[in-house]
This record gives sequence, structure tokens and C-alpha cells, in this order.
Amino acid sequence: MRKTKRAEITKDTKIPRHIAVIMDGNGRWAKKRLLPRSLGHKEGMERMVGMMEHAFDLGVEYMTVYALSTENLNRPKEELEGLYNLVRKYFKVYIGRVCEKGVRFKVIGDITPLPVDVQGILREAEKETLQYQGKGINFAMCYGSRAEIVRAVNIAVAEGKKVTEESFASLLYTGGQPEPDLIIRTGKEVRLSNFLLYQAAYAELYFTDKMFPEFSDEELDKAVLEFSKRTRRFGKTDEQLQ
Ligand code: FPP
Repeated sequence: MRKTKRAEITKDTKIPRHIAVIMDGNGRWAKKRLLPRSLGHKEGMERMVGMMEHAFDLGVEYMTVYALSTENLNRPKEELEGLYNLVRKYFKVYIGRVCEKGVRFKVIGDITPLPVDVQGILREAEKETLQYQGKGINFAMCYGSRAEIVRAVNIAVAEGKKVTEESFASLLYTGGQPEPDLIIRTGKEVRLSNFLLYQAAYAELYFTDKMFPEFSDEELDKAVLEFSKRTRRFGKTDEQLQ
């Protein structure tokens, strides 16, 4: 049987500068295989690192990953402890592997509810990569977009200055970075779940049924190729764009 050739990234493919990913489906991936959820998260963490490496190799400049939402903090204590243990055991080596190629690591979210040692590991990764510019990982941990917006409003109020769209964006955790061009959600759900609501204004959205541990490099390529095909009008007409 003749195989159909898979579409591939070429020099003509438009590569998004900033990709944000809602890494959903670790639990269902594990459940289907009769494995504990913690193993699903471990598999997810490995995939997250592989996905980031592949994205930076393609020329992506920023990756934002949704690791834990403020709402996820209400999950059973054992599941949260499992996630914290992943950070404790693997984070330094795994994230180190991506960041040693000149990638700055930044936590977005309010991590103060986390165990102090876990906070320390994340802050340490930030400190160790402070010198890098132009490429970055935003690790959304204890993150909620509404809380991020309210935090920015309070900074503006404290400064007593009127804001513009641009100056307000600079008060968000992602201030100074290009807005996400492509937001991917794995795991079959079709919603943003309080993720980058302000920054997503003109992002292209891509949803896949793949559970996050199944979101291979080829699946990321597919998302990028789909992005490359889309016409981004930013509110203009086709004629204006030409
Ligand atoms: C959502 O899947 C995923 C999470 C809540 C955690 C994502 C975490 C990783 C990819 C690992 C790296 C992060 C850390 C903190 C080390 P789900 O559990 O909601 O899956 P389900 O919807 O199938 O139950």
C-alpha cells in the first residue's frame, strides 16, 4: 500500500514566535493504561521537555506552558504532592537541559502556596538563566489569568497612572515578550480555562484530541503547519493586508 507523505516543516513554514500550551490529559492517559495519575504527570513532564526542545529547534522564541492552575491547587493532596515531587526530583536536570541553550526560565503565577523548597527550585532556575535574552520559557504554575489581570490593575492603581493597552500589557507577567501567536490545547477539551486571556486576543487556537503525553514532536509540527496556513488579519481585510 502506498503511504501518503506527511506534511513537513520547510523553510517556507511560518514559525510562531511564541507558542503557549495547555498540557491537558495526563490523568486520562494514565487511566487508560491502568496507571496511577502520578505516572501520567511524569510522562507529561518528559514530553513537556521534549516538546520545548523541539520548538526551540524550529525557531520558536517563547514557550508558555500551563503546569498548574490556581484551581488545580484544590486537587487531592497526594496528586499535588506527586507534582511537587516531580519538581524536586527532575526539574533541575530537565529544565537545565533546555535552558543551557540560552533560554531564560520564568515562573508566571503566584507560587507562594507551594512548599518552600519547591518555590526555591523554581526561583533558582530563574536566577540561573537571568543572563539569557531573546528565548524564554514561561512556566505557568499556580497561574490564573484573571488573577494576573487583577494584579496588573493593582500595580497600575498603586502607580496612579492611566494605562494604555501597551502599558497595561507590560504589567502582566509576560510583559516585554511577544504575544502568543499560537495556543495549543491537548486532551480534547475546547476552552482556554483562565489561560492568557488578555494575551490571547489575536492568538491562533489549535485543539487536539491527543492526550498531552501523546503530543509528539510530529504533533507539534502539525500544529505549526496548521498555524502557517492560517491568514492572520488582526481585524483588517484581505485587501488591506496585501
Ligand atoms: C492536566 O492534565 C495537567 C496538569 C494539571 C499538570 C501538567 C503537568 C505536567 C505536564 C508536568 C510538568 C509540571 C510540573 C508541575 C512538574 P490532567 O491531570 O488534568 O489530565 P486529565 O484531564 O486527563 O485528568
